[in-house]
Amino acid sequence: MEILAFGVQADEQPLIERAFQGRAQVRCLDVFLNEDTAPIAAGHEIISTSVNADLGAGVLEILAAGGTRMVAQRSTGFNNIDLTAAERLGLTVARVSSYSPYSVAEFAWALAMAVNRRIVRASTRTRDFDFRLHGLMGRDMHGRTAGVLGTGKIGEAFTRIAHGFGMRLLGWDVTENPVCRDLGMTYVPKDRLLAEADLVTLHVPLMPETRHLIDAAALKSMRDDAILVNSSRGGLVDTAALVGELRAGRFTGVGLDVYEAEAGLFFLDKSLEAIEDDTLARLVTFPNVLVTSHQAYYTKDAVGQIVAATAENVLDYRAGRRSANVLVPRS
Ligand SMILES: NC(=O)c1ccc[n+]([C@@H]2O[C@H](COP(=O)([O-])OP(=O)(O)OC[C@H]3O[C@@H](n4cnc5c(N)ncnc54)[C@H](O)[C@@H]3O)[C@@H](O)[C@H]2O)c1
Repeated sequence: MEILAFGVQADEQPLIERAFQGRAQVRCLDVFLNEDTAPIAAGHEIISTSVNADLGAGVLEILAAGGTRMVAQRSTGFNNIDLTAAERLGLTVARVSSYSPYSVAEFAWALAMAVNRRIVRASTRTRDFDFRLHGLMGRDMHGRTAGVLGTGKIGEAFTRIAHGFGMRLLGWDVTENPVCRDLGMTYVPKDRLLAEADLVTLHVPLMPETRHLIDAAALKSMRDDAILVNSSRGGLVDTAALVGELRAGRFTGVGLDVYEAEAGLFFLDKSLEAIEDDTLARLVTFPNVLVTSHQAYYTKDAVGQIVAATAENVLDYRAGRRSANVLVPRS
């Protein structure tokens, strides 16, 4: 039985092939799953999908009609999957509930420090033999306040690094993490965190109740000189409102690894096309903004763990075993 893997990056492919070696035959495709590409899956009982796959009801119906029975999603987040439709269609859906949180936390820090210390601008200048310093002044992190929204696995890893910098730690979450508390974190209401933090970082999942967690009012309540980092999901931030604040000259820096309309753009080469998304086009023009294309998880360690867990999810399905990674059926 051949497993069809959609949305495979070139340097991810050998890791996937190694994870399935001797266990199942796998064919890797670089195309992403959507309504146009779903018919390719016909005849494949098991498929594997990546973070930006469209697993809405329409695509799931095409998959089910073609004989697909199991979807092995290669990510933690599953906001792109219509679980109710999957259940109705009798599909099994599994994800990777945990892998190296350090991959994402360390990248969030890379974004924070890159915008704080103007690393990209400095590199561009030195390539042009412009060795002046004006405009490159950053701020010490030591002694400043980190505000961590979502103190689960990634938020905790981020907090450990913030502690290493010698920062004051504020947290916001529905449940308090004892490790973060032991590091000195004080849990406060979101409004207070946003008003006091020099660095605001987002690590909550995207759900109906967290959509636009950072909306126009939240942005207004932040310090003018704050740094905002989003390495969780684009939908947590109202990007149009963020552009409005940036136009007004606010914020020391904004680092975004995710963008609410990233599907159909991120992971693809659009360099020769006219970009129709005016919000994204405006966003990348600000000198204090850094946008990366959902690469925070993209380390050898994390991707190795993701594909190994995906192979286990597939073997569990074939053996009729249920693991904590199964999202559907729900029980
Ligand atoms: N950019 C990337 O490459 C990348 C990779 C992996 C994960 N992520 C994102 O990071 C997110 C966090 O991952 P994690 O492994 O730390 O998850 P986690 O489940 O360990 O932590 C999430 C935290 O959010 C809190 N939370 C949930 N709902 C909340 C709400 N309504 N209000 C306040 N807090 C709430 C939970 O209590 C938990 O502490 C994922 O959901 C995913 O969206 C991004």
